[in-house]
Amino acid sequence: MTEILRLRNLHKSFGPLEVLKGIDLAVAQGEVIVLIGASGSGKSTLLRCINFMEIPTSGRVFLHGTPVGRQTSSGVSYVERELTQIRARIGMVFQHFNLFPHMTALQNVMEGPRTVLKCSPDECRNRADNQLRKVGLEWKADAYPSQLSGGQQQRVAIARALAMEPEIMLFDEVTSALDPELVGEVLITMKELADEGMTMLIVTHELGFAYSVADRVLFLADGNVLEQGSPPEVLTYPKEEATKNFLRGHSSFRLPEPQLD
Ligand SMILES: Nc1ncnc2c1ncn2[C@@H]1O[C@H](COP(=O)(O)OP(=O)(O)O)[C@@H](O)[C@H]1O
Ligand SMILES: [Mg+2]
Repeated sequence: MTEILRLRNLHKSFGPLEVLKGIDLAVAQGEVIVLIGASGSGKSTLLRCINFMEIPTSGRVFLHGTPVGRQTSSGVSYVERELTQIRARIGMVFQHFNLFPHMTALQNVMEGPRTVLKCSPDECRNRADNQLRKVGLEWKADAYPSQLSGGQQQRVAIARALAMEPEIMLFDEVTSALDPELVGEVLITMKELADEGMTMLIVTHELGFAYSVADRVLFLADGNVLEQGSPPEVLTYPKEEATKNFLRGHSSFRLPEPQLD
């Protein structure tokens, strides 16, 4: 296995509130990890620490074996230039699409390569065309966000992240704000990405989707990884009482029909 990302004893506090209490995690190239857990258990904070939208209080993040930041006598210090580079290598998509309303879908997707990566206009255009095609929205290239459905906006947001050609993609409840009938198209886009070998960390409450897409499921509770394993191990036969309780609250999850062949 080629390790792409490692978290070592990652802690994050907000003032007196300790949200992450020492997370250890190694992620292999191409691995798809689904994070589940109750609201407030630290899922978003964990994703945000991975791409340094939040700075960990202590502990270390390694990308391809290289630690981010520099160890000093008073802790790990980070310089903004390095973090900007790291963020460009780790794509993130959120619950709320955050597309620029005054830009077309195409312009939204071109913006990162143009401003962060300083790609040529042709290269930006190429990347944007390719990624919009990949999410099935090349025909909406000239539409503004207000002219797109929530599901389409979310797919543009995914294309925008992919245009940076990230090594890892983070998804934080990207379907939670969508009308139910729009959830499927976004999950299909993510599933295709997973099938192509993208390394992905996904926070979702769509447990059927988690079951079908994840190589590994992590259950977070109170700032720790309480339980992890394959989808059947965690979602079907959880060991921990807290995991069982959490899953009882998600009655919409049903096991896939047995495959008879
Ligand atoms: N920027 C912040 N400042 C203070 N508290 C925060 C901040 N971000 C998150 N928290 C708190 O950290 C805890 C975990 O939040 P979060 O990571 O968003 O959990 P989850 O995504 O699992 O619902 C919550 O108690 C939340 O209120
Ligand atoms: Mg969250």
